[in-house]
This record gives sequence, C-alpha cells and structure tokens, in this order.
Amino acid sequence: MFKKIKKAVIPAAGLGTRFLPATKASPKEMLPIVDKPMIQYAVEEAEKCGIKEFIMITGKSKRAIEDHFDSAWELEENLKSKGKESMLAGIQHLLHLQFAFIRQKTPLGLGHAILCSKPFVNDEPFAVLLSDDIIDPDSNLLGKMMQFYNEHQAIVLALQKVPKTEIHRYGVIAGREIKKNFYEITDMVEKPKPSSAPSDIAIIGRYILTPDIFHFIEATSPGKGGEIQLTDALKAILKKGSIYGYLFEGKRYDAGDKLGYLKATVELALKHPVVKDEFKEYLLNKISNLK
Ligand code: UTP
Repeated sequence: MFKKIKKAVIPAAGLGTRFLPATKASPKEMLPIVDKPMIQYAVEEAEKCGIKEFIMITGKSKRAIEDHFDSAWELEENLKSKGKESMLAGIQHLLHLQFAFIRQKTPLGLGHAILCSKPFVNDEPFAVLLSDDIIDPDSNLLGKMMQFYNEHQAIVLALQKVPKTEIHRYGVIAGREIKKNFYEITDMVEKPKPSSAPSDIAIIGRYILTPDIFHFIEATSPGKGGEIQLTDALKAILKKGSIYGYLFEGKRYDAGDKLGYLKATVELALKHPVVKDEFKEYLLNKISNLK
C-alpha cells in the first residue's frame, strides 16, 4: 500500500571532531549560520516539503538541540511585552512541528544513528537530512526526491558531482541516467581512493529511505572505523532491488568542515534581508584592501 512521506530523521549524534574545540561541550548542529543554527535550516527545508514530524538522533552534549525546538515561554512573554513581534515570530514559527528525540548512546556511525529511529518511524518511508550539509534554501532538492518517491516508491539518494580531490570523503556511486538528473544506481563505494572511484558522483546528505532499510542495517557489520555504515546497508539492498539517485546541481555547503562553514556563512549572509547590503559593502572593502 502506498504511504506518503510524513517523517524526517535528523541524525545529530556525531562527535563533530572537525570543529573541535567548539564542539567539545556544544553540538556542532547548533553552530549558527548568520542567525540560525545549522539544524534549523534542515528542519525548515523539510517543513517546506510538508513534513511535520521530526525524529532527532542526539547524544552526549546535545541537549541544546532539544531546547531550541521547544517553546521558551519566558522569552516569548518578554518579547510580546516589548512589542518585538518579528523576533517573536522568528522563535515561534516552528512550534507547530512535532519533535521526538532519541539518544544514540555511542556514535557508532550514520547507519546505526538511523537504526535508532526505527521505533518511531514504524512501517513508513521517511526522509533523512544531515544538517551539516546545508542546501541552498531556494532550491527544491528534497521536494524533487519526494516527488520521485511518490512515482516509484523506492529509495532515492541525493547526489552531487564533486572534484577528484574530495572524492575520498564521500560514498561514490556507479549508475546509469534514466531521465534527466535521475540515476538508477548500480554500485556504491564508501570513501574510495580517487583512482578506484567508480565515478565523480557522490552521495550527499539527503535520503528518502523505505522501512526495509532497518532490516539491512541490523544485518550490517561494522565497516570503516568500526562504524555501521549506511552505504553498506544500501549496497546489500542493491543486490535485491533498485535504488535511485537525483543529481543535484544547486548549491550545497559542507558546513561540518571549517572552510565549508565559512563559505555557507558568507553566502547566506549575502542573501539575508537585514544584513546583506552592509555585509556586501564590508566584503568589497575588505577584498579591495587584500589586493
Ligand atoms: P559526520 O561524518 O559529519 O561526523 O556525520 P561527525 O561526527 O558529525 O563530524 P566529524 O567528522 O567528527 O567532524 C554526518 C552526520 O551523521 C551524524 C552526525 O551528527 C552528522 O549529522 N552522525 C554521525 C550520527 O548521528 N551518529 C554517528 O555515529 C555518526
């Protein structure tokens, strides 16, 4: 029976070692890009596609995430009494969404983090968003993936071409294009050497998964770095059924990495309605002084 995608899983239990010391006691996912924590970009992206139920996978030192998506009545009353309506709207507009928080007791990898959501997902297809992959808020990546799912009821992965020098950081696919930008995936390799990568097309942090993934993750043994890799479970599915991918040509920032984070901050600040003009002027000045 066809089931609509109503839930999103956001794994946020990783250690964030690329951002130490900032992430020693604070979640990486709460680092702000201009004025919103990066995890809020992912929630807003899914909400725009009609998703209202979120399952957050958290861990040690991640409690700020739970507080961020809760109501803050003292602050709300304070803003109300001072007539700060737009600030009030800014902290209230996601309160209609439902959030469940599950602790991943040990960060045993992305596959394991997703497995933690099993009791809440039940027997439904669901979206997974990795919040440190920031997708241009003006693009409709997740919407296109969900539309493809509605037509084919199969797993859909977000894909992007990456330079050869970065390919070793990703899961990389082999596949054939079945219609513009949609691929039927034939193989996947996790973090290959550039010389053995099957293509320059990498899997990025958006997935539409079907509930049978849980069974395959449960049967997956720890792989690279002792972690239970999602890619290994997906590879097992490939032996029995089809997995598709959507090649995203828009803008994505790997904000889990210092340089990607800085690029996201600069580019999203240049789009921010309040600061964009002054910030652009500042940047132009700064650049002319650098020359
Ligand atoms: P990353 O590969 O970015 O790992 O995980 P990380 O631990 O967050 O960061 P680094 O590499 O140490 O700097 C991708 C996503 O999967 C989540 C992370 O929170 C991140 O959103 N994740 C990863 C988990 O939830 N649990 C894990 O065991 C591993």
